[in-house]
Amino acid sequence: MNKKASLNLYAKIEPLIGFYQEYEGLYDKYLQIITSLKPKNILDFGCGNGRLLEKLKVSGFDAFGIDLSQDMIQKALLKGVKAYNKDIKELSGDFELIIAAADVLNYFDKSELNNILNEIFSKLAPKGYFLADINTLHGFRHVADGLLIKETDKRFLAVEADFQNKKLVTNFTLFEQNGEYYKKEQAVIEQYYYPLEYFKKLNILYLKKVISIRMFDKKIPDKNLMIFQKSP
Ligand SMILES: C[S@@+](CC[C@H](N)C(=O)[O-])C[C@H]1O[C@@H](n2cnc3c(N)ncnc32)[C@H](O)[C@@H]1O
Repeated sequence: MNKKASLNLYAKIEPLIGFYQEYEGLYDKYLQIITSLKPKNILDFGCGNGRLLEKLKVSGFDAFGIDLSQDMIQKALLKGVKAYNKDIKELSGDFELIIAAADVLNYFDKSELNNILNEIFSKLAPKGYFLADINTLHGFRHVADGLLIKETDKRFLAVEADFQNKKLVTNFTLFEQNGEYYKKEQAVIEQYYYPLEYFKKLNILYLKKVISIRMFDKKIPDKNLMIFQKSP
């Protein structure tokens, strides 16, 4: 199964996984920072179902999103936000702010991440800002790793996540009742751990500030929210 198909299945099961409440705190943090930066235009890279875009719209910001998954984009459009199933390479633009929220950067292996960060750099206006959160080692080892089962009257979902050698491999298996039978769908999503040191060494984007986020574990940070500014 290719990456797009896996992300489309993820779009389908995301409402079953839930955790929407936990994400509210993360989005509030983003909104707080964005309100202080007052950007004229915003790109939400990997916007998913448009939850953050919706909040940005309500707060009066000019923002649009892109996502590799067409199904995610469809969900975002239902919220009345601007969202496109486009590759960042296809965009032209001088964005004062680019966002990659809810561990989007962890979805890329090292060479993909290098390319994405170069694309982000090229799409930012001079002195533009880039905000992104990444999972900490604790977030991968003690929050993401493990087994999650969700069941409704017509659906059964098993999420098995295994973190080894700085890589989280998550297998999703969905059984969906269709009359007398169950349709089975499966997908695998890989995520990669990056230490903060990796981002501190970037010379195209300057890491100005890091905010520790406790989303699922109230004691130990499971995410780091990073504020970058485009280097001249
Ligand atoms: C964990 S979700 C986060 C979604 C959203 N930012 C949020 O806050 O809910 C990661 C998203 O990254 C998207 N994604 C993965 N690779 C991508 C790429 N190369 N270009 C654009 N989006 C991508 C996925 O489709 C998915 O919607």
